[in-house]
Amino acid sequence: MTEIAIIVLAAGKGTRMKSDLPKVLHRAAGRSLLGHALHAASALNPKEAVVVIGPGMEAVAAEARSVIPSARQAVQVDRLGTGHAVSMAREVLGGFAGTVLILYGDVPLISARSLTHLASLAGPGCMAVLGFEAANPHGYGRLLRNFAGNVIAIREELDASVEEKSITLCNSGIIAIDSDLLWALLPRIGNTNAKGEYYLTDLVELAATAGATCALATCPEFEVAGVNDRVQLAGIEATLQAAYRRMHMLNGATLVSPDTVFFSADTLIGRDVVIEPHVVFGPGVTVGDGVEILAFSHIEGATICEGARIGPYARLRPGAEIGAEAHIGNFVEVKKSIIGKGAKANHLTYIGDARVGAKTNIGAGTITCNYDGYEKHLTDIGENVFVGSNTALVAPVKIGNGASIAAGSVITRNVPADALAMTRPGLEIRDGWAARYREIKAAKKAAKNKT
Ligand code: UD1
Ligand code: MG
Repeated sequence: MTEIAIIVLAAGKGTRMKSDLPKVLHRAAGRSLLGHALHAASALNPKEAVVVIGPGMEAVAAEARSVIPSARQAVQVDRLGTGHAVSMAREVLGGFAGTVLILYGDVPLISARSLTHLASLAGPGCMAVLGFEAANPHGYGRLLRNFAGNVIAIREELDASVEEKSITLCNSGIIAIDSDLLWALLPRIGNTNAKGEYYLTDLVELAATAGATCALATCPEFEVAGVNDRVQLAGIEATLQAAYRRMHMLNGATLVSPDTVFFSADTLIGRDVVIEPHVVFGPGVTVGDGVEILAFSHIEGATICEGARIGPYARLRPGAEIGAEAHIGNFVEVKKSIIGKGAKANHLTYIGDARVGAKTNIGAGTITCNYDGYEKHLTDIGENVFVGSNTALVAPVKIGNGASIAAGSVITRNVPADALAMTRPGLEIRDGWAARYREIKAAKKAAKNKT
């Protein structure tokens, strides 16, 4: 089988984003634009991956390695065109032999399917380009073909004749090419064109002249939409969300109001999950079968086991592991904590850096005081514990199985199993006091109103 290497062009800063962040690090559905492109490409099992970055854009290379750990970087100092950008990767790719797949870091919706098809058309000694029918071809390179249907040239908008401009079959920019052919033709690309750039697209004409064929693969236009500004970024987000909502519904989740639910690219949802309106999934969420997520909940970096009930208005933060059948109710925040099977925290609570045993009940207003201003500490609560309302658990602290904590307590020491812990000022009751108080006050007010 032919080996595959990928080159991702990501040297552009993306001035129109008006951002300090390189363009390809902007996110859609919780994943960077570069991450989306690399996820699609990793389906081809590339042997090598090189990302071409601009100077000082090491964060882009690091992001590439978070998806493909072996990914390497090449720096393009002067932006002299797409052909020049690819030549920067040559040294890094060294002796690689096989098919080189060239992608753009700012084209996130490209599918693994289209890339696989494209790569399959580029065997030894030949190449293939990914084209699409453009609704509005203005600005794109046009694909010129021969009678056999092979591509013989790509004409950039600025260099195209009136006749060529009427072509609607356009270049996505994504190509697959035999490595020997690529390195043989690349040095022959010139920059005598309207932009004075080294156009990668000139490879096609050079290949045709050299007698090598360039096949055409096509894909739907939306897959090759690029991002240049934040309006286009929002468009990509909308396309992704529509696709994820549909996918999760078809996989057996009920979305009561799909348009109000936001997923991340990596969200995993089980069967018979019900998701009410206005729920947001940040990155790293796994939801088990039969879970109910009620309205207005925000969930990221969390695992929710089967049959649990979350929300309404719940917040699960990274490291929240919610056990089967557990209930996390309104205005409850859970961070980096393991909640046992069937445990309940139904109202107004913060659980952070904690372990809560099975069947334990956390009363309304309970707070784990996990932070002393310098360090985080653990709260370890056993099984079948009853934590009364408005309890402050000052970590590090451990509550034994079956213990009870009286409402309003501030727990600063470990509580043994099956014990009662209570910190509470004495309660005083004065019979009739409130009635007498009202009488005195009412009389005073009446006297004042007479004068
Ligand atoms: C390019 C194609 C065009 C195609 C269009 C699709 C060329 C010459 N033209 O045009 O046929 O229809 O994409 O969107 O390739 N880049 C670098 N270094 C450079 C130049 C570009 O890394 O020196 C990167 C950019 O960051 C970008 C990509 O390559 O991700 C494409 O460059 P861009 O300038 O947007 O090319 P277009 O003119 O849009
Ligand atoms: Mg472009």
